Amino acid sequence: VLVAAGSGSRLGAGFPKALVEVAGDTLIGHCLRAVQQVPAIAEVVVVAPADGVDAVVRAVAGRFTARVVAGGTTRDASVRKGLEALDPQLTHVLIHDAARPFTPTQVYRRVLAELAAGAVAVVPALPVTDTVKRVRDGVVVKTLDRDELVGVQTPQGFRLAELRAAHARQRGEVTDDAMLMEQAGIAVRVVTGSDHAFKITTPFDLAVARAMQED
Ligand code: CTP
Ligand code: MG
Repeated sequence: VLVAAGSGSRLGAGFPKALVEVAGDTLIGHCLRAVQQVPAIAEVVVVAPADGVDAVVRAVAGRFTARVVAGGTTRDASVRKGLEALDPQLTHVLIHDAARPFTPTQVYRRVLAELAAGAVAVVPALPVTDTVKRVRDGVVVKTLDRDELVGVQTPQGFRLAELRAAHARQRGEVTDDAMLMEQAGIAVRVVTGSDHAFKITTPFDLAVARAMQED
């Protein structure tokens, strides 16, 4: 499930972030190109902005076998729309942010390998490099122990039954799918992510992505 239904308000392109082009292809296109190199992925559902389904269909058309469905107003609602559109026979799913177009196929493979070894939930992550502090009203409350902290990326991998159940129970705001599994008491395994799996969030990130693709 490729979630691409966000508006990209922090990027501010004036149209959905997933349709922004880098090096001649949309962020969705770059993601699908990686996905196509991972044979274990049986089908792809792209979750598009509700008012941008046609534009996403055009971005996908003729190049990729992917189904396009309309998303929701929050990321988790978009994930649920994607899950509903999946073949009910499937046993596992990867949820990937379209905003991480340069995630290397090795990261997909590491997540899949962990699922194949029996994990119910798997996330790729990298150690944080900044010192992270908890701040309240402009004052530092605590410096967190950096040795315990990682930045989590996508694709995140799940056994479908458990992920569906966790989404059905969901209350309140979550920023990724693994959080729902944590809330359900399910162990979330961590594999090594990649610097290249960074999320394009701000204009600076987009500039970095474009510079990376230049030769
Ligand atoms: N996403 C989604 N549906 C939403 C919100 C987000 O499918 N209602 C997807 C985005 O398209 C993106 C991923 O979730 O691929 C990560 O979200 P984020 O980087 O926050 O993207 P946006 O929500 O589009 O950006 P912003 O928060 O700056 O508006
Ligand atoms: Mg967002």
